[in-house]
Amino acid sequence: MAPWRLPLLAVSLLWGWLLASSSSSPSTVAPPQDLRITDPGLLGSLDVEWKPPPHAQTFQECTVKYKLEYHSTGDRDWKVIFTRKLKLRVGFDLSRTAEVRLQTLLRGRCTGDVEVQSDWIYATFQIPPQGKLESEVQNFKCIYHDWEYLKCTWQPGLLTPHGVHYGLYYWYEGLEQAVQCAQYIQEQGLNLGCVLHNLSQAEYRDLHICVNGSAAGAQLRPLYSTLRLHNLAQPSAPEQLQLSVSAAQELRAAWSPPGGRVPPHCLEYEVQVAEDAAAWAFVSTQMETAVTISRANQSHVSCVRVRGRTNIFCADQGFWSEWTQDCFSVPRKEDKQLFILIPVILSLSISLIIFMLIGQCKKRSPAGKPLHTSLGF
Ligand SMILES: *[C@@H]1O[C@H](CO)[C@@H](O)[C@H](O)[C@H]1NC(C)=O
Ligand SMILES: *[C@@H]1O[C@H](CO)[C@@H](O)[C@H](O)[C@H]1NC(C)=O
Repeated sequence: MAPWRLPLLAVSLLWGWLLASSSSSPSTVAPPQDLRITDPGLLGSLDVEWKPPPHAQTFQECTVKYKLEYHSTGDRDWKVIFTRKLKLRVGFDLSRTAEVRLQTLLRGRCTGDVEVQSDWIYATFQIPPQGKLESEVQNFKCIYHDWEYLKCTWQPGLLTPHGVHYGLYYWYEGLEQAVQCAQYIQEQGLNLGCVLHNLSQAEYRDLHICVNGSAAGAQLRPLYSTLRLHNLAQPSAPEQLQLSVSAAQELRAAWSPPGGRVPPHCLEYEVQVAEDAAAWAFVSTQMETAVTISRANQSHVSCVRVRGRTNIFCADQGFWSEWTQDCFSVPRKEDKQLFILIPVILSLSISLIIFMLIGQCKKRSPAGKPLHTSLGF
């Protein structure tokens, strides 16, 4: 470095230090304090609370916000909430550990409109483990039929003590507390399923479910599940399937959406065709309730079937309905030839008969001729 540059460097360093200190902006902020997670007994909705960072009230002309990130252990992504509150209720999967991290965000004139972030603070929560893992119920499944009722079923766990009694509890935002199932599905006196009605309030929200059990005072491992009803929907089969052949010899199939509470704009349909209801071939998946099957294929088609499912505009997934099926007897080529042959054969035989009759008349003509002539004059 040239010697004349050294004083220049010192001057610019001094200037930089003067500028930085003159704005006197806090370049750091402390994290919030006393982060706690508590369980209000809502089967997955947990309360997360904290206190502001020390000296928060001294940041004049600046706003303090918090960035909360949370997930259940094993989830790859964290959900993020920005808030100015000091308490939030968020949903977790209680069969795993709930993890939360929180930081302070400071911004305003006191920071020169630059966002200053604190370090993270962390908290976790876990339901005290209860019973052996093998005692948890198996094959827990739920289907939201016609958007009218939810039917959940399960099977006893591998480790099932004698005289076990299972219970299903549920909660969604709007209910004051967890509610027990009122309509169990029983097999040999054992609760192995539940039907829940009137869940429209729970649509497009988290529905927290717990299936727990006890036997002779011993606790079994509870199963926790968080459902989203719209992703478990199964509509009834489409109705009034009608087949017709257009003037252009195209096969047209039309049907109506199933009844029930399923919004018709939430449905898509799969259409298949086959000859004699065997070897079904895919035609289309569509939202319209009619389809025209092209002439090239039409000679093969004699049966059409349609089923419905919730479409991607209303849900991430869903279950297909049963099929609705109808058959249509399309005249085959051989039949058409027969139709042409019959008039030809008919007209041929008629003309043959006429010729034979004329022949007969000519044979008798010597006796008949005088009659004709007498008639003629
Ligand atoms: C099952 O869970 C519900 C809701 O949390 C609770 O009220 C009930 O006591 C539990 N039953 C057993 C046997 O653990
Ligand atoms: C209909 O015809 C098209 C082309 O001719 C063919 O690709 C398609 O597989 C046929 N579909 C059926 C159901 O026969």
